[in-house]
Amino acid sequence: MSKITITKPDDWHLHFRDGELLNETVPATARCFQRAIVMPNLVPPVRNRAEALAYKQRILAAKPSGSDFEPLMVLYLTNDTTADDIRQAVGDDIPAAKLYPAGATTNSDAAVSGIESLYPIFETMSEVGMLLLIHGEVTDAETDIFDRERLFIEQHLAPIHSRFPELKIVFEHITTADAADFVLAATPSLAATITPQHLLLNRNDLLVGGIKPHNYCLPVLKRSTHQQRLRDVVASGSPKFFLGTDSAPHAKHTKETACGCAGCYSAWGALELYTQVFDDLNCLDKLEGFASLYGPDFYGLPRNTEQLTLKREPWVMPQEIQLANGDSIVPFFAGQTLNWQIT
Ligand code: DOR
Ligand code: ZN
Repeated sequence: MSKITITKPDDWHLHFRDGELLNETVPATARCFQRAIVMPNLVPPVRNRAEALAYKQRILAAKPSGSDFEPLMVLYLTNDTTADDIRQAVGDDIPAAKLYPAGATTNSDAAVSGIESLYPIFETMSEVGMLLLIHGEVTDAETDIFDRERLFIEQHLAPIHSRFPELKIVFEHITTADAADFVLAATPSLAATITPQHLLLNRNDLLVGGIKPHNYCLPVLKRSTHQQRLRDVVASGSPKFFLGTDSAPHAKHTKETACGCAGCYSAWGALELYTQVFDDLNCLDKLEGFASLYGPDFYGLPRNTEQLTLKREPWVMPQEIQLANGDSIVPFFAGQTLNWQIT
């Protein structure tokens, strides 16, 4: 196959950041996605309806003219989130709230310590139909970083899912066979997103032959058996797994340093990279479900009506993206060849 046409996709998990950077991140995503679930880990985080709608306006102001791209906003759960915050926020433009365990990742200092203390909030979310998006890693210092996702499942995710069976949960950016199998065995109210980097890479791509800071993200890349299991479940066409890039820009100098930031900025080639994976797996017929159908179905939102076509024609991801403030970003897959492009 040298061409594929699919329903226009959405990105169900990404980071736009704020300020000037929106002029880079929003057009890069609007180029191929109709909607995006926008992560709320700003400093300070997006905690209530007023903050979410103000942020939405800043995003819309950065959208290319003529684009009908739509950001979907997310509340950041803290130990101070109230049931009223949830009731006032929930709606089509704020369909979800995000649980970051404190210290799990970029800008998560304000996040939740003692997840059980949020059970009353989960109760309200379940009642009003707000989705719970979870960064699923335990954060205690003694736990090996490669075990953090697996242990989160037994310590937190399984108890939350069984206590709130009606609450729709997205287990974000899963990285392990354990997570994939847990999601497959769970009821239909639990689903997961998968990033391009976790389908394309494993921990050798981070550590062999020298540290590759631009492949460093959280949850960290795992061993190849886990990567293979993720590839198997997307190839299976299960509707429990859908597209969420976790595209997360960091300036080059904050990644190429002694204590580098976590995040891969994949927006410039996101859909093309997923297409490459499905092509490698000989299952291009499964791309549309993953990229365009299962996400809106799970969120209870309409599927997009426009279409988009990709053709097989190689191109090379630039080495660097220059920003207006003089910084630069090294995009995910920099300098490497992608086989597909959007027509
Ligand atoms: O790699 C990551 N980067 N993982 C996250 O969970 C957060 C993100 C970011 O905001 O940079
Ligand atoms: Zn993220």
